[in-house]
Amino acid sequence: MKVLVVGSGGRCHAIVEALSRSPQVEKIYCAPGNAGIAATAECIAIKETAADELCAFARENAIGLTVVGPEVALEAGIADRFKAEGLRIFGPTKSAARIETSKEFAKELMQKYDIPTAAFRTFGDYDEALAYVKAGTLPAVLKYDGLAAGKGVVIAETLEQADEALKDMLLDAKFGQGRVVIEEYLEGPEFSLMCFVNGHDVYPMPAAQDHKRAYDGDKGPNTGGMGAYTELPFIDKADLDYAMNNIMRRTADALVAEGAPFCGVLYGGLMKTSQGIKVIEFNARFGDPETEVVLPRMKSDICSVFCDVADGRAPSIEWHDFATLGIVLASKGYPNSYEKGFVIEGVDTVDGSVYHMGTAVKDGKYVTSGGRVMIVVCKAPTLREAQAKAAAEVAKIGCDNLFHRTDIGDKAFK
Ligand code: AMP
Ligand code: GLY
Repeated sequence: MKVLVVGSGGRCHAIVEALSRSPQVEKIYCAPGNAGIAATAECIAIKETAADELCAFARENAIGLTVVGPEVALEAGIADRFKAEGLRIFGPTKSAARIETSKEFAKELMQKYDIPTAAFRTFGDYDEALAYVKAGTLPAVLKYDGLAAGKGVVIAETLEQADEALKDMLLDAKFGQGRVVIEEYLEGPEFSLMCFVNGHDVYPMPAAQDHKRAYDGDKGPNTGGMGAYTELPFIDKADLDYAMNNIMRRTADALVAEGAPFCGVLYGGLMKTSQGIKVIEFNARFGDPETEVVLPRMKSDICSVFCDVADGRAPSIEWHDFATLGIVLASKGYPNSYEKGFVIEGVDTVDGSVYHMGTAVKDGKYVTSGGRVMIVVCKAPTLREAQAKAAAEVAKIGCDNLFHRTDIGDKAFK
C-alpha cells in the first residue's frame, strides 16, 4: 500500500517511522515533511492545509491510506474532502475536530454529557469578562476560543495579567475575532491519554506525560512541549479505567449523539486532581511530543491499526512494555524569537530515535530551522534507565544554538 502522511513535525516523523516498519507499506509520501522525514519518506511540496491539492495527490497516486498530523489540516476540512471522494483518511471531520478547535464547543459538550472538567463560563465582551475575573479567585485560567498555536491559554496570577490577556484576546483580537472561556484553576499531575477512535469504539494507547514549560522545574513560558515519557507510575489501572469510561468513551459517544462522530486520535489532556481525573483539554489528533514516545512502543502493524480504525473494524493493538523518554532540543529563545541556520552535528551517533521537528539541510548538513528542532527518544526496561540513556544520547548532539530541559521524567519519581 502507498500511504500519505500530512504534516511536518516530530509527530509526523514518528508516524512515518512507525509506518515504515509495516510490511504492507510499499511507499510513504509526506506533505510537506521535513529534512529528517526525507530519509524515510518522499516529501512533497504541498501545504498541510491545501485540502484540495492533497486530495488530488492521493487520487492520482493511488494512496490507500492518508494519516493527518496537525490540527490546522483538520480545521481546513481535509477529512471531509477525502471522505467525499471515497478516499481512506485517518483523521476527524472539521465538525468532529471542534473538540479541539473550539474550546467553547468542547466545554459545552463536557457540561452536557457530564464529562468531568473545570467549571467555566464563556465571554465575548471584555468588560463582562474582566468583571467575572475580579469577582472570582486567582489564578484565573483564560482560554481563547480557537486555534492559537499553543499560545491561547493564560494562567493569570494577578488581575493585571488577566486584564492584559483579556485585552489581547477580546479587544485587540490578537489571534482573530473570538470569545474567551474562563475556567476554574485545577491542580494535580497532568497526563495525556491518546485513543484510536471510530464512532463509539475507543482503543487506548499508553498514557504519556508532556512537559509544556520551557525550562527545568516547570519554569518559563508554555511551549509546544519540551519532552515526554511513558509509563506513568502515578496513574494506576483504576485511574485509566475511570478516564476511559467517564471521559474518553463518554466523549466519543457524545460526539456521535451530536451528529459529529469522531474518527482518528482523540487526545485527552487530563489532570489527576484531588476531586478525581478531569479534562484540561481535548485534541483531535496525535499529541506532540507524546507521539514520539508512544508509537515506538507499538508492537502491532500500525498500518493495519489505521486502516481497521478508519474502516470501522476492531484493530488488534499490542504494546511493548519497555519505558520510553524523549528530550526536545529547541532553539535558544524559543518559544519567543530565535535565530535559525545553526549546524547540527552528531545526529548519526545517537543510539536511539531522533525525530526531526524543525531542521533543514544546508551544504549536506542538518541545520536548525524551527523553534523545536528535534527530539531524542530512548527506550529501556525501566523509566530510570530510559531517562539516563536519553540524557547521555542528547549530549552527543552538538549545536551552538540549542537548549533542552534536564528534568524530563523527574515527576515520575516524586
Ligand atoms: P491547554 O492548552 O488547555 O492544555 O492549557 C495549557 C496548559 O495550561 C495545561 O497543560 C495546564 O498546565 C494549564 N491549564 C489549562 N487549564 C487549566 C486549569 N483549568 N487549571 C490549571 N491549569 C490549567
Ligand atoms: N503535547 C500537547 C499537544 O500535542 O497539544
